[in-house]
Amino acid sequence: MEARVAAPIEQAAALIRAGQLVAFPTETVYGLGANALDAAAVERIYAAKGRPASSPLIVHVGSIAMARELAREWPDEAALLAAHFWPGPLTLVVHKDDRVPDCVTAGLPTVGVRMPDHEIALALIRAADVPIAAPSANRFTGLSPTTAAHVRAAFGDGVAMVLDGGPARVGIESTVLSLAVPRAMLLRPGMISRARIEEIIGPVQSFQGAPGEAHPSPGLHRKHYSPLTPLFLVDADEALPPGRGALLRIRGSEPAARVVRMPATPHEYAARLYDALHDLDQRGFDWIAVERPPVSPEWEAIMDRLARAAGTPPGV
Ligand code: TXA
Ligand code: MG
Repeated sequence: MEARVAAPIEQAAALIRAGQLVAFPTETVYGLGANALDAAAVERIYAAKGRPASSPLIVHVGSIAMARELAREWPDEAALLAAHFWPGPLTLVVHKDDRVPDCVTAGLPTVGVRMPDHEIALALIRAADVPIAAPSANRFTGLSPTTAAHVRAAFGDGVAMVLDGGPARVGIESTVLSLAVPRAMLLRPGMISRARIEEIIGPVQSFQGAPGEAHPSPGLHRKHYSPLTPLFLVDADEALPPGRGALLRIRGSEPAARVVRMPATPHEYAARLYDALHDLDQRGFDWIAVERPPVSPEWEAIMDRLARAAGTPPGV
């Protein structure tokens, strides 16, 4: 062990080892964490979130070695991708080892693992010395939190401790890629793009299920990631409905009332998106309109989250 870890981290690690919940920052969004090897602790996550037990959790690790211990087998693609992108916003779904409790994976034979690129998250996992199962620290179907204040607003005293790492740098949830199928499959787009993954392991397939078919990533409900205020997508110069609302806009230059100017580059847009939606959701508007982002691969993950926030299944 090198330098002494800070006192709040030691306290949080002790809570994790005692089976309690700790909210912590990652580079994507804040997570609501529990010891992934303690089924009773993991059940507390589902209870706090009001989340159905049919949604599997991502397990956060402090090293590649820790990830391999959770996997029944570690395919070559996992080794290559972990070497390139970890720590970072990429979750790899692999066949799980028996030591991962079934409640972590919602009964699936696979587990999603990732090493977060955040010094507080890594220090917490290493101090607790256990993998940490953590979904985004919001209530079920709500907006993911990108600040400690968002977490406190959602849970109040319902979480033993919230570690504050300031605003999340990436701002939307990790890319989820399954390696537990014959050909790698993108289950959730994120800011590590399909193109960057394909540079390392070759072609990646998209999930294209028939309507009604069980999704291989059961947590990806339509109407996930939603503000309470109705949200819809509009074209750049589309007329807005009556009532009080706000428009999230990328293009155009003239200032206008209730227009929230969003960055025109995808990484900066992602980093701002949930904070802007959390903020507007507090204001009692009748609606939130969001200008459609450009149709291009770099905007795929943002379009996915906007479509879900609008309650429109992605790809439609
Ligand atoms: O960036 C993130 O991924 C954040 C931070 C906290 O790491 N976590 C997050 O967790 O977004 P959550 O629970 O809100 O979303 C995880 C999604 C699940 O909804 C599910 O779709 C997918 O990851 N997933 C997890 N384990 C899986 C598995 N074994 N098979 C298929 N999909 C899985
Ligand atoms: Mg979530």
